[in-house]
Amino acid sequence: MTLQTEILVIGSGAAGLSLALTIADRFQVKIISKENAAAGSTAMAQGGIAAALRAGDSVESHIQDTLEAGAGLCNPKTVSRVIEKGPAAIDFLIAQGVKFTGGSEPEEGSGFHLTREGGHSRRRVLHVDDATGRAVHQALLHNAHKHPNIVMTENALAVDLITNRQSVSNGKGKDQCEGAYVMEIESGKIDAMTAKATVLATGGASKVYLYTSNPDGSTGDGIAMAWRAGCRVANMEFNQFHPTCLYHPEAKSFLLSEALRGEGAHLTLPNGERFMHKFDERAELAPRDVVARAIDHEMKRLGLDNVYLDISHRDPDFIIGHFPNIYRRCKEFGFDLTTGPIPVVPAAHYTCGGVVTDLTGKTDIDRLYAIGEVACTGLHGANRMASNSLLECLVFGMAAGEDILARGNELPLPGSAAPWDESRVTDSDEEIVVSHNWHELRRFMWNYVGIVRTNKRLERAKRRTDMLLGEIQEFYGNFRVTPDLLELRNLATVGDLIVRSALERRESRGLHYTTDYPGQEANPTDTILTP
Ligand code: FAD
Ligand code: SIN
Repeated sequence: MTLQTEILVIGSGAAGLSLALTIADRFQVKIISKENAAAGSTAMAQGGIAAALRAGDSVESHIQDTLEAGAGLCNPKTVSRVIEKGPAAIDFLIAQGVKFTGGSEPEEGSGFHLTREGGHSRRRVLHVDDATGRAVHQALLHNAHKHPNIVMTENALAVDLITNRQSVSNGKGKDQCEGAYVMEIESGKIDAMTAKATVLATGGASKVYLYTSNPDGSTGDGIAMAWRAGCRVANMEFNQFHPTCLYHPEAKSFLLSEALRGEGAHLTLPNGERFMHKFDERAELAPRDVVARAIDHEMKRLGLDNVYLDISHRDPDFIIGHFPNIYRRCKEFGFDLTTGPIPVVPAAHYTCGGVVTDLTGKTDIDRLYAIGEVACTGLHGANRMASNSLLECLVFGMAAGEDILARGNELPLPGSAAPWDESRVTDSDEEIVVSHNWHELRRFMWNYVGIVRTNKRLERAKRRTDMLLGEIQEFYGNFRVTPDLLELRNLATVGDLIVRSALERRESRGLHYTTDYPGQEANPTDTILTP
């Protein structure tokens, strides 16, 4: 069966929702989400959203810090565009009902409490206590649910894009996207869903690593779907590891926000000694790549399982007032932020690379947009600066929305698409193989493609991704697909793209550090893979 909508948005995070709200007065929008709509990284964001708002700060300074954190690979045009739009993005959120934490310090000026995070040369991060993402997501979801032109469908998994391969049929012309095949997870039924424009807002891929701060759904589906459809993918070697996730077997790498360090928390060794000043003069507030590598170095040097984050020298009321959710969560695991150090380790956190887009989120395929963490827009370069991600989701959500509005009637509504073909497949009795492969992939990505890399380890990882991709393809061709198999196929594709990109970069830059090439090229370029 072919279902039709005007605009299909795949993903209900900050990116997808801000686009939907931008266009909904004009178009019928269908938002699908593979989990419940409240899941995804957006709702988990802690630290906040960066924007130059106060007197004493400036757009130029925010641009400069972003370029510096990006280690020579940001696209300056994208950086300027996004940062200049920062104040407008904040106004958009306030109009949606987000109530940022207020501040009364004279230096805050903006009326908001502004916190600081790594790489920022001053306080410029707006937040809602320590659960900014939840507040942002709830406000956007509430308004999307209320809008008569927005239909939200949960537990609907996009399997693959539907494309009209112009370039294959006539050797020229741009391929067109006409929608996606979508599985209703409960029944396993797959339908074609056609649309005038399709938007990938599927988030990142950090679940490809064994330890991650991300939710279970961060399986890189949008990157893998776009790649299979023929889009270029860039800078996949730059996977960001957040320096401070709670070290506890049951905490699932719960994040301890960088804002804790912004408010004075120290990183320490088991004997209480601070170490960050030995690695960077900005100490705990150096960009994340520097801090994560320093922790990794100290852990290996001393044979430690973890290091510690300590803010207990600050007033308990201040700590509990500013970080109520983190305080509560740590308490549940038996740690008290107000009285002592908390064990922390780095974990995979953010996918800086992704589907190549222009400044309006357009991809290589006509009528296909990619926005938010799934995209590589040029904002982050070789390392994303803290709290620039939600900003990018909003700015690109609005920019892609405006592009769709401007194209208006030019966008044709496709007719029916070929139905999903499962005539040659049977049910699998080998689900255990899928779960083994999931685990194997995530473990070797962690061991061989982590914070510090070598050619040998990358080549080992490459042999394993090749083998896994072969096995998965066989499964895919012979058996009825399940959500687990589809996510595994996407994760393996993303793992392969990360390894191939890492092998192509013959230098150490930003988040990619290899002992085989510790130096830097004089004229670095993006790693762009073409299908
Ligand atoms: P997400 O919010 O991840 O949403 C993805 C959506 O796509 C979900 O609805 C998911 O169900 C859906 N989806 C995925 N695949 C499919 C499919 N195949 N079919 C259908 N639906 C699909 N950034 C900041 O700027 N500031 C912060 O303070 C901050 N803190 C963070 C804290 C944590 C713990 C984490 C994990 C991230 C944090 N980040 C922060 C990063 C930021 O939250 C994310 O980059 C951003 O929210 C991504 O938004 P998104 O809309 O692109 O994707
Ligand atoms: C954090 O609060 O440390 C996360 C911020 C981010 O990822 O931008």
